[in-house]
Amino acid sequence: MTTAGAPFSSSLICGVRSVHFGVTNLVSTVEFFTQGWGLTEANTSDAVHLRGTGPDAYIVALQQRPQTEILRVDLLASDRAAVDALHARLAKAGATDLSAPKAIDEYAGGYGLTVRDPEGRLLRIVADDLRHADTQDAIDRPRKISHVVMNSSDSATVEAFYTQTLGLRLVDRSRRITFLNCNSDHHSIALVPGNHTALHHIAFEVPTFDALMRGIGRLREYGTNVAWGIGRHGPGNNIFSYFVGPENIPLEYTTEVQQIDSTYRVGAPDDWKPLPGRMDQWGATSPPSPDMVKAEHSVRFSPEPF
Ligand SMILES: [Fe+2]
Repeated sequence: MTTAGAPFSSSLICGVRSVHFGVTNLVSTVEFFTQGWGLTEANTSDAVHLRGTGPDAYIVALQQRPQTEILRVDLLASDRAAVDALHARLAKAGATDLSAPKAIDEYAGGYGLTVRDPEGRLLRIVADDLRHADTQDAIDRPRKISHVVMNSSDSATVEAFYTQTLGLRLVDRSRRITFLNCNSDHHSIALVPGNHTALHHIAFEVPTFDALMRGIGRLREYGTNVAWGIGRHGPGNNIFSYFVGPENIPLEYTTEVQQIDSTYRVGAPDDWKPLPGRMDQWGATSPPSPDMVKAEHSVRFSPEPF
């Protein structure tokens, strides 16, 4: 699985920008994501928008709600023409709750549409949104969202939606997880086949292994300990540490994500057989804590309009 070719560029989607959460305690959740997780406030107009060190206008948005849930996942399209092309594809596929592309009247603006995936998750696809110019890495803070992983009770249908309609590429299939790619990162979206549709986890990229360890240290001082890790995954080859965030939100710091291109050979479960007793390459970590496993099945995607 070597890489030595052109970047994978056939996808109209080019990354995950941000995730909107409804939370029951907005004040303490904002405190966690700023003081513990390392994000900074970018805008507090209609929601608390928090940014990483990368160019994305924001990567987490938080709003007070009666229950903890994901309100929306925002995907980046390469440009306005890509938004229009995706709208045509989605309309042809009969996608649910599809809106016409238009100028977006909320923080970060841009041009985009909204749609629900086949299991009801609300997506915004946006281009030409606000980008930050100050993008210097910090020694201990996240840059961006690396990937979103979702449990799925109908993974074949959901996989077909993200690949055939939205144009992401299947890059690996392990025993438990299906990995989908849309830029140089090994995966940006992944599916865990099962019996429900909740969030599995959201991974935030930090620039280095040292930054990951410094982030772990800050979180420990904040009162949040590692719930799984530190380890190195098979598919994606990324270093990971997992945490149970506020209100059971499942979170990951990750770094050294494998960078791939169009020559990457799609992997199958037999390519990713773990060594006996191991859940990662190093074998240095215990399995996820029971609280982490619970969190990976706890936060639903809101079915309500947003
Ligand atoms: Fe992950």
